[in-house]
Amino acid sequence: MADMINTYNGLKFKDIFKSLRVRFFIIVAVTGLVSCICMHWIILDSYENRAVSVKSTEVQTQLRILANHLIFYNYLQSPSSEVINAELDMLANLYDGRVMVINDDLKVVKDTYSISQGKTIISEEVVNCLKTGSRGMLSKYDQSNGYIELITPIVETQVIEEQDVSEYGNPNEVVRGVLLTSVSTDTIATTMDILSHRASIIEVLIALIIIVFAALVSYGLLKPFDRITAAINDLKEGYTDKPIVGPNYIETEAIIKAFNALLRRMKTLDDSRQEFVSNVSHELKTPITSMKILADSLLTQEDVPNEVYKEFMNDISHEVDREDKIINDLLALVKMDKTSAGLSITSVDVVALTESVLKRMRPIARKHNIELILDSKRAVTAEIDEVKISLVIMNLVENAIKYNNENGFVRVEIDADHQYFYLSVVDNGVGIPEESLDHIYERFYRVDKSRSREIGGTGLGLAIARNAVIMHRGSIDVKSTLGEGTTFTIKIPLSSVGAKQ
Ligand SMILES: Nc1ncnc2c1ncn2[C@@H]1O[C@H](COP(=O)(O)OP(=O)(O)O)[C@@H](O)[C@H]1O
Ligand SMILES: [Mg+2]
Repeated sequence: MADMINTYNGLKFKDIFKSLRVRFFIIVAVTGLVSCICMHWIILDSYENRAVSVKSTEVQTQLRILANHLIFYNYLQSPSSEVINAELDMLANLYDGRVMVINDDLKVVKDTYSISQGKTIISEEVVNCLKTGSRGMLSKYDQSNGYIELITPIVETQVIEEQDVSEYGNPNEVVRGVLLTSVSTDTIATTMDILSHRASIIEVLIALIIIVFAALVSYGLLKPFDRITAAINDLKEGYTDKPIVGPNYIETEAIIKAFNALLRRMKTLDDSRQEFVSNVSHELKTPITSMKILADSLLTQEDVPNEVYKEFMNDISHEVDREDKIINDLLALVKMDKTSAGLSITSVDVVALTESVLKRMRPIARKHNIELILDSKRAVTAEIDEVKISLVIMNLVENAIKYNNENGFVRVEIDADHQYFYLSVVDNGVGIPEESLDHIYERFYRVDKSRSREIGGTGLGLAIARNAVIMHRGSIDVKSTLGEGTTFTIKIPLSSVGAKQ
């Protein structure tokens, strides 16, 4: 519980209802308390109904017997029978009530309270009872004043002729008068007070139990969320990097699953970043190590001939160039790591762009006696980032020349449909082994490290190319047969970048 209160530290009071736990507690507590109170009232109410109905029936029975006595003693005509008067008083005392005997002229023949004696009673129910006989028999409960009013017909039965009996089935009734009785329900009220008092005590006890129960349940049921939060916090603080585990509720499992997936993704990103950093360090270190060895060997030797100096300095300069190339490639790669928002799009003539790239590559191709061919099926104009796409074409053509044989060829084919343009760089060079095809776009990956280094490769060219193509929402594809040649194809939307943004 202390834990639970702590969780809400720092929360403003109005925010407290934003807590799932508080809401849960309120719902459970309110449901419990409301049903408890409802039960209290329903039980008291049904007790009251039952008690009133039992009492009414009981009194009504007594009154019917009394009514028969009244007829027997002819009381309505001569209301002086001691027996009946005693009986009336006894009944009135017994039920703590008042009995009035009313004759068929609506005159009160006898009132046990002696107030209304001799007066005329005009009451709808009495009149009705006089008219309808036993059907007019009535008992009415007046809750606010605490009494039951009963109307009982005083009926004389007259036996009719034989044939009529068979016809009507019942002896005929003549209503001679009415008994108007009220009996107090004080005893029922007292019992209800006692019951209500007891129920209240029980209610308070149950309320306490419900509140404790609601607190425990809301605390317990939502505990998994605390555990998840704690687990995520642990991860955030860096105490652990394990996937979080939690109790198996369907709801929390979904959160945990989503979170662990995110965690895996972040881990993968982190791993690849670490790998990248270590690769970068390694790649940058290599030229520096070479330079250090070259410089040291010059320093440790005495009287080094001028030619040797020159040769070593030449090597050192070469290593500096290499270092420079790696750094430039890394910078290019970082630039490509952004989304397409980093593109500066213009309308570009792709064939002309390719021609200018090929022109720049021609001297290197000529050195290896490699033929450069441009084969464009149609004029292609696309909305692209000119610098980045020329970098892509340059990297692909450069690779096709570098990983080629003497007297080979490199052919650039350009084609387009209504949506995309396709640019393929075909060579008949050394080819790429199948197992390497999945890796060539990785940063610093080279099939043959020493050969690539020799020809000045950094292993970053294809990574740069691929990122640039993806920034344009395009795709890059390679087909290669070892020893026969390689074809790289890029497919880039003619204008998708502007349109889809
Ligand atoms: N046209 C090609 N023919 C054969 N191998 C290729 C070709 N293009 C790329 N490769 C292989 O893919 C590797 C990665 O290429 P790249 O990322 O451009 O790095 P780099 O050219 O600096 O070595 C190269 O080292 C090479 O082994
Ligand atoms: Mg390359």
